[in-house]
Amino acid sequence: MNKKLIVGNWKMNGSLAANEALIQAVRAGLPAQAACDVAVAVPSPYLAQVQGLVAGSGIDVAAQDVSQQEVGAYTGEVAASMLRDFGVRYVLVGHSERRQLHGESDTAVAEKAQRALAAGLTPIVCVGETLAEREAGQTEAVVRRQLAAVIHLNGRCISEVVVAYEPVWAIGTGRTATPAQAQDVHAALRAQLAAASTHASAMRLLYGGSMNAANAAQLLAEQDIDGGLVGGASLKAPDFLSIIAAAQ
Ligand code: G3P
Repeated sequence: MNKKLIVGNWKMNGSLAANEALIQAVRAGLPAQAACDVAVAVPSPYLAQVQGLVAGSGIDVAAQDVSQQEVGAYTGEVAASMLRDFGVRYVLVGHSERRQLHGESDTAVAEKAQRALAAGLTPIVCVGETLAEREAGQTEAVVRRQLAAVIHLNGRCISEVVVAYEPVWAIGTGRTATPAQAQDVHAALRAQLAAASTHASAMRLLYGGSMNAANAAQLLAEQDIDGGLVGGASLKAPDFLSIIAAAQ
């Protein structure tokens, strides 16, 4: 059993006041020795603020995206080294909202993971199928293709990434994958990683998609589910804390 990792993905939500209230409430409810690792993925402008708010709590800060480029004339982009400057530990790459709304290809996602690793960040590589792909029986082929691009480009360092399986049809819909559905995909991803790394069993594979206080324990009890990437429920301190408590 790997130590679990619970990451709250705030997406494009928050304000100086709301962030402070949320982190204070999470800190107040966090056990002194949480059994799992905890991080929050916050919008870029708030990285410094949240870094200050979590100081001494054991909560890590994550970014939600990173540039494929290292430095230079790339207006609007944020470099991995800049995230590192702010003490960021993890960065999401290839979230389905980036793939779908911003046209990020498998190659772009792999390059982002490479930049993150080179800067000393841990990329959380998101993979997942759409509803149409699941219904067409393509789930495993889709997630394997998405992960293969990252393995191909980051072969030697692949054991340093975290993988998050987020079925697109479960994101923000209230429709969660069953523990068995999620476990099946996680097992396939683990097997794919095992072919590339001797450390695959120690790598953390997170589930994301309508994880909440009611379903977290069952999902997290599955053999190959090493944590959660939590959207909506991470914006409410009691719900986020329940999920953290379920991650034993
Ligand atoms: O990255 C987390 C995510 O996309 C899941 O969102 O709101 O369904 O928990 P949500």
